[in-house]
Amino acid sequence: MSDESTDQTRRQLLAITTGLGLAGTAVASIPFVLSMQPSARARALGAPVEVDISKLEAGQRLVFEWRGKPVWIVNRTKKMLDTLPGMAGKLVDPNSDASEQPSYAQNEWRSIKPDILVLVGICTHLGCSPLAKFVEGAASGLGRDWPGGFFCPCHGSFFDLAGRVYKDVPAPTNLVVPPHAYVSDTRIIVGLSPDEVEKNKNA
Ligand code: FES
Repeated sequence: MSDESTDQTRRQLLAITTGLGLAGTAVASIPFVLSMQPSARARALGAPVEVDISKLEAGQRLVFEWRGKPVWIVNRTKKMLDTLPGMAGKLVDPNSDASEQPSYAQNEWRSIKPDILVLVGICTHLGCSPLAKFVEGAASGLGRDWPGGFFCPCHGSFFDLAGRVYKDVPAPTNLVVPPHAYVSDTRIIVGLSPDEVEKNKNA
């Protein structure tokens, strides 16, 4: 058996065993890091959430809540971005044609700026929150050929570093990119498009 197929088999076994152990656990506890503005009630009702990313270093992920769901902002390194072009053959929807994202994020990075990825952190299978698995290779526990990405342990779905789903896993589509816009170089608002932010500025 080749190294590649061994790694793939390892991932499939991991998916099955973790699926057995964790099925039904739904969303795990999530470290929400945002300040309390806007109020929790307003957020639950869907108010946009503005996030400061000035301290988000390359290779790190920020987690917060919007509309009762975890949202992630990942500052991808060049090395992480370099993995994306070679992924197409492993993915269900490499161009995100059947997946949900705003038109301004339907590109090779699924983001406005290449390095900054914004995703709803909910698996498109049954709604668990996948784990960030940014460590590549054998140290990840997902096989020597693992390039970094996200892993949903509930039933074993894998996503790349743009939230695109692998073939032959339960999740049907890529992770969702929510509407978002930059209000400055270091502040992102989730819940509004760039056009809506412009309109509000001019109102
Ligand atoms: S919820 Fe089933 S694989 Fe993620």
